[in-house]
Amino acid sequence: MGFIPPNAPVAQQSVASYPLPMEKMEYPTTTREMLDWLRSRVGDVVPDIELLDAADVAVEINALKREKKAIILGHNYMEPSLYHSVCDYVGDSLGLSRIAANADCNIIIFCGVRFMAETAKILNPNRLVLLPSSKGGCSLASGIVASDVRALKAQFPGVPVVTYVNTYADVKAESDYCCTSSNGEAVVRHLIEEGHPRIIFLPDEYLGANVAANCNLPFVSAGKDEKGSLVVPAEVPEACVIGWQARCEVHEQFTVEDVSNARDTYSDVKVISHPECSPEVVEASDYSGSTTDLIRYVQEMEAGRYLLLTECSMGDNIAAENPGREMIRMCSIRCPHMNEIRLTDTLAALTNERYAVEVDPEVSARARVALDRMISIG
Ligand code: 13P
Ligand code: SF4
Repeated sequence: MGFIPPNAPVAQQSVASYPLPMEKMEYPTTTREMLDWLRSRVGDVVPDIELLDAADVAVEINALKREKKAIILGHNYMEPSLYHSVCDYVGDSLGLSRIAANADCNIIIFCGVRFMAETAKILNPNRLVLLPSSKGGCSLASGIVASDVRALKAQFPGVPVVTYVNTYADVKAESDYCCTSSNGEAVVRHLIEEGHPRIIFLPDEYLGANVAANCNLPFVSAGKDEKGSLVVPAEVPEACVIGWQARCEVHEQFTVEDVSNARDTYSDVKVISHPECSPEVVEASDYSGSTTDLIRYVQEMEAGRYLLLTECSMGDNIAAENPGREMIRMCSIRCPHMNEIRLTDTLAALTNERYAVEVDPEVSARARVALDRMISIG
């Protein structure tokens, strides 16, 4: 798929179909079989008493899904019993966005956080998109608002704006491109090739700095003062990435000391981190990538032990699928938003068709332009 020119009209930018990156999952239809299925996959990481309940609920969800022509998209951070029993597709933000854009069904249930469900609604507006929790926020998405982007555009006229998918629709609507952790670098490289020496990259300060470092560009951060006025650095180089002072409340907690402690304890450990971690942590890691890239790395490497610097549930999901690999997780650091979503919430969402995600049509049409560019890259 080629790049869509930034000045192309909206209709031309709507991509009709995208390659599906993954296979649809099939699950057992009786409680007995589901229990055996779950025990064989997650029996080592989830207590049996929890699996007994999970099997019942999962079978009910899967039957209702068929009846209502619904599909469930599950982010890689979902708890293991949900992740392995009801999701039709699992993946990272980019993979699930591509599935959502193509989904031919009545209902999409997004087992993830609000910005992900909103993205699905923008990409496939004729489907009923449900989020199993009314909460499911994200510290990055709440770290910037549309007026901040407008202020930056006024300060740096003509500089293209790349917005991380972890934002709400009105922020995406102000942007030229969206990106995820798996294609942020590709989007920035594309803009450099197009002749843009400066690029605004919002709102994750750490992801922005990591992308800038990979593209050999200096990074500076803008932000707001206590009165809400834009603050930009005194010196902004002619060629650079201009970021924003927002961070992921989970990934900002991992430190270089965590990495060196693990290396001191296990000489053979591979350290893998999400690029929402600080540049110092990413630099100290053996590999950094999107959640799906991290899963792929573990599957493809022959190492026996990994320190996983991202949400802990994903470590459980990887451990379940890779019995020979030891996943060292720091489970005191959790994403409270992703942890809102459980099997019982998912059943209630499907039964009561709640919580429906709506996006203002005018905002949605503008955000769609930036999202279409995102899913056509990388
Ligand atoms: P991925 O796109 O890598 O799945 O990341 C989403 C996210 O919210 C990470 O914290
Ligand atoms: Fe947002 Fe961080 Fe949670 Fe991901 S882990 S959803 S970036 S708060």
